[in-house]
Amino acid sequence: MKNIKYYLKKAQKEGFAIGQFNFSDFTQMKGVVNKGAELKSPIILGTSEGESNFFGLEEAVALRNVLRKKMGVPIFLNLDHGKTFEYLKKAIDAGYDMVHFDGSKLPLEENIKITKQVIKYARRKGVTVEGEIGMIGNDASRLYSEKFEIKEENLTNPAEAAEYVKKTKVDLLAVSIGNFHGIEISGIDPNLRLDLLKEIRIATGETALVLHGGSGTPEDDIRGAIKIGIQKININTELRLAFSGNLRRALTDAEVIVPYKFLADALKAVEGVTGRKIELFGSASKV
Ligand code: G3H
Ligand code: ZN
Repeated sequence: MKNIKYYLKKAQKEGFAIGQFNFSDFTQMKGVVNKGAELKSPIILGTSEGESNFFGLEEAVALRNVLRKKMGVPIFLNLDHGKTFEYLKKAIDAGYDMVHFDGSKLPLEENIKITKQVIKYARRKGVTVEGEIGMIGNDASRLYSEKFEIKEENLTNPAEAAEYVKKTKVDLLAVSIGNFHGIEISGIDPNLRLDLLKEIRIATGETALVLHGGSGTPEDDIRGAIKIGIQKININTELRLAFSGNLRRALTDAEVIVPYKFLADALKAVEGVTGRKIELFGSASKV
């Protein structure tokens, strides 16, 4: 199997993006992989610190291996928004393919220092590293009833991004261009700052760029962002909503008690969201 760097380069050359789909439950994991295999798309499975604490780092790695072999599709496991070197080290030791160090709340120098420490350790194990510059709004992926306010000072500064990638030599960089975690209640989030993305693209050379908070982002913005140079897009809230909504409906009848029956619609719903994102990102048939 080719590694994630190969697929990121391919995405850059051919103008598509690879989806990262977060999970904390095996039905979600299976739904994502089923669709990836059906559409012959490379897949990144993501777990945050919270998600991986619940699921288990070793369990995630073991099941990635099983599904990779059984489904015959390139599946990569990413530790998403790791806040400390110690936690990322645990994920690397467990066998994750990629780790994301989120030092976005730290002063730039501190962010660079810890990113370098993560990279030094990760390189020895052949693990790919994502960093972050600019603050992506909201820590949690959920539905927001209020309007989300994006502060100019939290957007990625292209000069800082250039300095960060030059000093750390990170493989991927997460950017803040009006994207945020979660979805506004309307179902569609405000437009991305594609003008800023262009500046960041120029400032960061060949580094793969990552769009977090992909749920609810207008589809034209996603297409525009891929055209400018986004190679990875993270999706969580839309998967959570599809999964929990279907589960809630299935469980309204108190006599429904068989997990493989009440989880069947939730599984299909996860497959549905994943399939629509793969088509939108252009990663189908890119295996
Ligand atoms: O890191 C995970 C993602 O950025 C998820 O964002 O919940 O808005 O899809 P989302
Ligand atoms: Zn994120």
